Amino acid sequence: MPAISAQAPGKTILCGEHAVVYGQPAIAIPVTQVQARAVVTANPRGAANQIHIIAPDIQLDDYLENLAESHPIKRLFTSLRHSLNLSHFPAFDLRITSTIPIAGGMGSGAAVSVAVLRAVSQFLGHPMNNEQISSLTFEVEKSYHGTPSGIDNTVITYARPIFFIRGQPFETLHAIHPLTFLIADSGVRSETATVVGDVRQAWKKNPEHYEALFHAIGTLTVQVRRRLERGPTEEIGGFLTANHQLLQELGVSSPELDRLVNAALAAGAQGAKLTGAGRGGNILALVGEDKMASVSQALRDAGAVNLYQTNLMPSHDEVEK
Ligand code: MEV
Repeated sequence: MPAISAQAPGKTILCGEHAVVYGQPAIAIPVTQVQARAVVTANPRGAANQIHIIAPDIQLDDYLENLAESHPIKRLFTSLRHSLNLSHFPAFDLRITSTIPIAGGMGSGAAVSVAVLRAVSQFLGHPMNNEQISSLTFEVEKSYHGTPSGIDNTVITYARPIFFIRGQPFETLHAIHPLTFLIADSGVRSETATVVGDVRQAWKKNPEHYEALFHAIGTLTVQVRRRLERGPTEEIGGFLTANHQLLQELGVSSPELDRLVNAALAAGAQGAKLTGAGRGGNILALVGEDKMASVSQALRDAGAVNLYQTNLMPSHDEVEK
């Protein structure tokens, strides 16, 4: 039997992170330049449930049964087994690789889950559709992120730009003009669960103040959507920078992220903000073609350890459910 492989992209949040956990809308786009990949190879001579996992990026080379129950890959398989109602798995080898930075705000964990669920469910002869994959990935994210909004698993599974409100069906965004974003990695690693937890503590202490900030972010997200879909797209950058200021007020930026944002703006980016949970990870900058080289250089000079480019292209595809 030939090996079965599947992949899933990284993601970046254009606007609305954190506020989306509290019911406000957010916009996310896939970053196809980075991918998680899962390859399943049958092991016809192996015993039932003998699943050999090789994930060099996290120095994992072991059998599933040896992983702690709390290990994200173990949780994923437990959810998969329940969901498919399987008494056991046939033996196979699973190789997981990823070019998505770990704990960098680009959805590396969710992308690995999506790629593994796609490849393994197909291998088992029960290929899951996007809705099933997204919802199982969400279950797994919940078990170690606490209160995820669901935006990461959704944008990564469907691999298209989305307008997302927690608990509601997402909408696919159709930009009227292509837009180019540079994503700059601060090199600082930060756990989403910790930052989301800190915002929750701060919100509990001062709900009125934080809800006003969430509401301002939500309002701005709606403005960005309108301009993406109807223009003028030149106004989007200003909203992104305003979103960064609100994220600073939420307490999720850091000197490294602020330095990158300021460098991008000084070099001619139309707008810039941190993206994802913050404290570390990445910033994103909306950059015109003519400023690409100068903004890239400025970001490197300001400490970016990696740069990714992602384009939001006009599209009229229908959503596959
Ligand atoms: C993380 O990519 C985005 C956050 O809003 C958390 C979430 O929505 O689950 C910070």
